[in-house]
Amino acid sequence: MIQNYVRTATTSWRNQSPAFRVIRLWLGITWIYAGWDKASDPGFLTSGSPSYIGTQLSGYSTQSPVGFAFNKLIEHAVLVGGFVMVSEFAIGLATLLWVAPRLAAFGGFSMSIGLWLASSFHASPYFLASDSAYAVLWLSYLLLIVGTGKRKGFEMSLERRGVLRVGITGVLAVAFAGAGKIFAGATPSTNSSAASSAGTKIVKLASLKVGSTFNFAAANGAPAVLFRTKTGVFAYSAICTHQGCTVAYSNASKTLQCPCHGAEYDPFKSARVINGPTQTPLAKIKVSVKGAWVVQA
Ligand code: FES
Repeated sequence: MIQNYVRTATTSWRNQSPAFRVIRLWLGITWIYAGWDKASDPGFLTSGSPSYIGTQLSGYSTQSPVGFAFNKLIEHAVLVGGFVMVSEFAIGLATLLWVAPRLAAFGGFSMSIGLWLASSFHASPYFLASDSAYAVLWLSYLLLIVGTGKRKGFEMSLERRGVLRVGITGVLAVAFAGAGKIFAGATPSTNSSAASSAGTKIVKLASLKVGSTFNFAAANGAPAVLFRTKTGVFAYSAICTHQGCTVAYSNASKTLQCPCHGAEYDPFKSARVINGPTQTPLAKIKVSVKGAWVVQA
C-alpha cells in the first residue's frame, strides 16, 4: 500500500509539465508551512494570547463583509482553529502527494476565498491582498487538473481509487499538527494589555465628547472600546475573556456586555467582572492624548 502511495506521487510528478509542477510545488509547500506556523505557535489555541484564533475571529467579525458568520464561530474558536490547521496540512500534503488532487485544489481555493473575506477584503489596492492572489492561483491549478484529466483520463482514475490514500493523508495531517505542538515553545505570551504599536492614531479628541465611547480596531486588529470621561481617556479590548465573543457598551447599564453567555464588565472599575462565567477583567489597552489625537500608546 505504501509502495503504491509513493509510486502514484512519483508518477504524477514525472507526467506533469514544468509549469504545472512549479504551481503545485509552491501551493503544496505554502499550505504545509501555513499549517506548521499555526501548529508550532503555542498561543494559537490559547485564549488570552495575542495570536489566539478567537482573537482573530473576533477581529474578522467586525471587519469582514460576512462578519456575522465569523461572530458565530467565536464560541467554538479552538475547534475552528484545529480544523483550519489540520485542513492546511491535509491540503498541502494531498497536493504534493497527488491524493484527491481536485478536492485538494478546491479546498485550497475555498480556504483562500474564506481568508480573503475574513481578513483582506478591504485591502487597497486589491493586489496587495495575498489571499485573493492565492484564490486565483488555486483556481488556475484546479482548471489545469481538470483539463489534463479530460485529455488523459489519468487523474480521474487515480482519484476514484484513492479512498485509502485520502485516509493515509488525513492521518499524516493530524500527525504533522501534533508534531508542531511538540516543537512549539512552552509558554504563550498573554495580552494583559493588547498588542500595541506606539502612536497609532485612533480618533480626533475633538470628535469624542466627554461621556462618549468609540469602537476601534487595536493595533493587533482586534476590536476595542475607547472611553472619554471628565478625567481623560482609557480603553479596553472588546474581546470577552470567557470565550472570545465581542463585548459592547450599554448606555443603559453603563457596562460592557457580552452577547454570548452574559458576561458583564464595569469599564469604570478597571473592567472588572460584575456578572457571568469569567473572573478575568477585560485587557486594558494603553491610550493617551497626543496633540489633537487619541493614540494607542
Ligand atoms: S464569550 Fe462567554 S460570556 Fe463572553
